[in-house]
Amino acid sequence: MEVGVLKRADGSSYVEWGNNKVFASVYGPKEVIPRFLARNDKAILRCKYNMTPFSVEDRKRPGPDRRSIEIGKVTSGALEPAILVEDYPNSMIEIAIEIMQADAGTRCAGITAATLALVDAGIPMRDLVAACAAGKSNDEIVLDLCKEEDNSGQADVPIAIMPRSDDVTLLQMDGILTEDEVEEALKLAMSGCKKIYEMQKKALKVKYGG
Ligand code: CDP
Repeated sequence: MEVGVLKRADGSSYVEWGNNKVFASVYGPKEVIPRFLARNDKAILRCKYNMTPFSVEDRKRPGPDRRSIEIGKVTSGALEPAILVEDYPNSMIEIAIEIMQADAGTRCAGITAATLALVDAGIPMRDLVAACAAGKSNDEIVLDLCKEEDNSGQADVPIAIMPRSDDVTLLQMDGILTEDEVEEALKLAMSGCKKIYEMQKKALKVKYGG
């Protein structure tokens, strides 16, 4: 994880997570365009998640699709509780996540990277947001599925948390799990988030000391 990698963004980061390679950048808080979207009680977040055509095995058609729009939306929802949006009414914070190489788990890598970029942009935060997935592959509950495990996998449960309070800001589930397996997957994903949190703090210390 590296913080402050793009000169012209207000905040940025680069995260390599297994074979996932992700850039995140933050612009703002700035004027809301179009203006009618502005809220007088808080800043709005606009989060774009994009996969480059060469990031996946079969070339991805450039531009937004249903999946990337959904991931942008859930990423925004995962980050907002951690940001003091109420301090910036009538403004917007733009977050751009670029997946340069994908190997499953990119939404978690994106949320993790975007959090670092937000801090780098000087946006006041209640806590960092750390994300990680657990899933089921070969009848076993495992942490952070890679692409092969995900393809043949039986379930994928990405979560994001604010580690100081353990508040969950993202919880999705793909596939089928029993109630006990859900418990086990959540516990495992939570432990993954805590590890990611430590790595985020370390990356921020490298840039900002302390
Ligand atoms: O990346 P994440 O696990 O958050 O999302 P997903 O929708 O479960 O996608 C899992 C993986 O499928 C991605 O990380 C990519 O490696 C791959 N994928 C792909 O090969 N082509 C796409 N158009 C979309 C995803």
